Order: sequence, then C-alpha cells, then structure tokens
Amino acid sequence: MAGEDFPSVGDALGGCVIASQPALAPTPALQNLKITRAPSLENLNTTPKDRTCWREKSLRRLFSLSKSNGLSKTEEAFEDNVRVSIVEESIECLRRNDLGGYTIPAHNLYPFQWNWDSAIVAAGWAVFDEARAWEELDTLFSGQWEDGMVPSIVFHKPSTTYFPGPEIWGLPGNPSRSTGITQPPVAAISARFLFEHTENVKLAEKKMTDLFPKILASHRWWYKARDPENKGVVAILHPWESGMDNSPSWDAAMQFPIDNLPPYERKDLHHVNASMRPTKDTYDHYLTLLYRFKAENFYDSEKLYWVSPFRMTDLCTNSILFRANRDLRWLAIKLGKDDVVKEIDEWLDRGFEGFRQLWDEKSGLYYCQDQLTGKLADAPTSAAFLPLFAGVASKDQAAKLVENLRRWLDNVPFGVPSTDPKDPRFEPLRYWRGPVWIIVNWMICNGLLHYGYDDIAQRIYDDSVALTSNAGLKEYFDPKTGEGCGGELFSWTAAMCLAWLDRPNAISIGHKMSGPKIHLEQDSTLPR
Ligand code: DGY
Repeated sequence: MAGEDFPSVGDALGGCVIASQPALAPTPALQNLKITRAPSLENLNTTPKDRTCWREKSLRRLFSLSKSNGLSKTEEAFEDNVRVSIVEESIECLRRNDLGGYTIPAHNLYPFQWNWDSAIVAAGWAVFDEARAWEELDTLFSGQWEDGMVPSIVFHKPSTTYFPGPEIWGLPGNPSRSTGITQPPVAAISARFLFEHTENVKLAEKKMTDLFPKILASHRWWYKARDPENKGVVAILHPWESGMDNSPSWDAAMQFPIDNLPPYERKDLHHVNASMRPTKDTYDHYLTLLYRFKAENFYDSEKLYWVSPFRMTDLCTNSILFRANRDLRWLAIKLGKDDVVKEIDEWLDRGFEGFRQLWDEKSGLYYCQDQLTGKLADAPTSAAFLPLFAGVASKDQAAKLVENLRRWLDNVPFGVPSTDPKDPRFEPLRYWRGPVWIIVNWMICNGLLHYGYDDIAQRIYDDSVALTSNAGLKEYFDPKTGEGCGGELFSWTAAMCLAWLDRPNAISIGHKMSGPKIHLEQDSTLPR
C-alpha cells in the first residue's frame, strides 16, 4: 500500500500526532551536484527482483512528490543522474553483508550482528525484501537474554577480524554468544516502519505478534536494570552502549584509573586508519570496564548499575528509547494490547520529567549527565539535538537548539558534525568526535520536521544526499571535506539511503511521531 493511502496515525490515536511532515524534495542545488566518485561496487549484481521492487516504490515516490502526470525536470535529474547507482549499490551492499539471516555492519571491521545497526538495517531491507527485513529483527532477538536485555553484539559465527570477540566476553574454551552490554533500542521504531508500510499484511501481523512481547521485555529491562532509582531516564554503563563510543561527552567520566589489563591487539586498526578511530587510552578504559563487568558477572545487570565506575545518562539512548516508546505504544494499540498502553504512558510521563535535568538554558543545548557526580557533561555534541527526535523538547527549547544547529552548519560545508566544530574537542575524522553520521542526520532531520523547521531539515537532507552521492556508502564523513571515513560499504548507511533518502516522508522510516500529547498540553504553542 502506498504511504499516502495508509490511515494516518493521528486517526488511529484520536489525533495524537504531534505534527505531520511535508515531503522533502530534491532542491535545485542538487541538480548541480557533481558526482566525483566511481561506484564503490563494480559489476553491480542486484537481482532483477530487487530492482523491480525498488523501481516500483521509487515511481510511487516520484508520483507522490510531483502529484502530476509526469516527472519534473528536477525529479528526473535527481533520479537518473544522482541516486540510481547509490540505491542499487545500497541493495547490493545489504545482500553482500548478509551472512544468513543477519547483516553485518561491514566486512572485517564488524563481522557480527550489532544491535542498533541491525534494527536500522531492517528498515533498509524492508524497501525491497520484507521477509528478509523481519528475519533481521527475529535473528537479533534470538540473542535476547532471559532478563530482556538485547546485547550490543550477537556472535552468530566465529570471526578472527574483530577484537574484543566472543572469547574475550566469554572464555577461550567457552566463547560467549553475545556481549554482556546493550545498545540504543531502535527495534520498536524499525518494527513500526515495517508494520505500517507492509505490502504483506498477513506476514507483518504474524511477525509483529511474535516480536511485540520481546521488544516490550527489552524496554522493561531498560527501566528495571538501568533506572532502578526512578529518574525517568536510563543509564548506560559503557560508552559502547551509547553507540557513540568516543564522544567527548564521556571524556570527564572516563578519567577512572585503568586496571592491569591482559595484553591485547586492536584489530580495528588493521581495517581503518588510526586517525579515524578511538585512541589507545580510550580503548584501555573500554577494556577496564569490560573486564570489571566480567569479574562481577555480566548476568547480574542490577548489580552492574551500582558497581560500574562509568554511569551516564546518555542523550542518544534516552532519545531513542523515548521515541521507541511512542512507536511501541502505537504498535500496542494496533495489536489490541491496550493493557500495556498505561505502562508505556508512565514511561513517557517520567521521561518528560527526566529530560528536564539534561537541559542547559544558558547554552540552549541538552547534555549527557554523569550519574555518579550529578554533573552535566559539558561537551556540545550532535546528541544534543536528538530530544527533537524524541519529541520531548518544548517549543522554546527547540528554537534554541535550532539556533545552535544553524551556527554549527554555518561552520562546516557538510552537516551535522558530531561535535560543535568550534569546540576544541572537535576532530573531523575521529569517529564520534566530529564526523557526520547519516543515521544521526536522519534522526535530527525527522525531529526538525516535527517541530516545523522544514528549511534546516531540508539542508540536512541535502547534505546527506550530497555526502552519500559523492563518497558512497561509508561509515561516516568528514564534515570539512565531505570525504568518506571508517568502514566501507556500510550497511546502515545503505539502509538510510533506501529507507530515508530515497523516499518521501510519507513512506520513510519514522515519518510520523505519535503518542500522548503530554508535553503539548504544557506547551500549547508547539506546532501540530
Ligand atoms: C567497536 O568495536 O568499535 C564497536 O563500536 C563496539 O561495539
């Protein structure tokens, strides 16, 4: 079914949608986009079936944008000159990174199934192979722990190209099936996308019915294990749990002493230049945490909360969890599981309160918080804008965030940099200390549209199109040059090309925000 024909979430929830989004269109600037790269994949081998499926959906996209009988010149240029090859490469990339029911983020660098990568990648699969998309989530949840936690990495098959692998999380003679930590809970957001836009309703209903209790259990785990003090916001205990591994937000909290570590070899540096990866000192701290958790027995997650020397309220995790709660609520209503709506509403209520402590009125930004000292981490990072994606910021807060965001974007040719480019900690190549990440651009852009900032959302969309068109499916991008960095043929960049950049908002992932209007009632001026 075409996105536009689908009953709106607002109808389903009795008008609870915060704001509907206008479609982002290719702008005239993109007609002049110079493609300077050769395709990352030679001999493109997308199957005719993949291609037909994507083509059909793309045509639908173009018709829904132009609302006319034919395609406009801009649309034709956009479609034929800029995006056709990247979309075909994206499909091919997912097929190549498919190791049988799960998609690795990139060969060699990340040879297992990563939690938030996979949840995003499922949305990419959904664009051309829905059954495979559901399988991605099924396989991810096959690694779910009994207590509800979904681990950050599931080690389905052995690999020698990654450290720390299953024998470090477990023992050499008894390798672990997964890590003992988690990652941002994207699954409900992706599952809603699959369910809402399905062309195979029977399959979607069956899959969603199986998946719903597992996702619900994982959200319950977050609140039980990571918010035992009822703060309304959850804690991460390792920078790897944030997904933003070496964000400057962790610098002060990562000053604890390094333990006497067994000798280790960084395998990531065999695949990516050291200037684009976390430093040795940062890795020593990562491993200190890993070995301490192992000594405490990972399985006692409630104990870990109290013993970890690193305990942060992370903006990325909490914004995603908040937005995922909105989508889980939407799914609960669709599946007739009204009994859990009240529980989710309580999480949302408490979340609105919890986020208040993370706001700094003076700088007009949100910050992560060190739960052990109570101090806000003073680093201005792109995670500061993710409360827009959650829909937890007030209209005034959104205006201040946008003021900051405009300034950041005026200081680099390509946005959104992961750290304020004027901050001394900004490093344009080093992983989460400066580079642009397409998935973060998607979340920020989505949030901006909901708050009515269409112009700046369009700018971020255009930058994302330009970066992927020119540099290809890289892991992240230098905001100063647009050059691709990190891993090659990266699955979630491909998924974003398919599920966001190639689609109108009516059928792109996360196009509508739903949920109770708790905040709107407090702030009646928020655009609807
Ligand atoms: C890595 O190894 O870089 C990962 O981000 C850890 O999950």
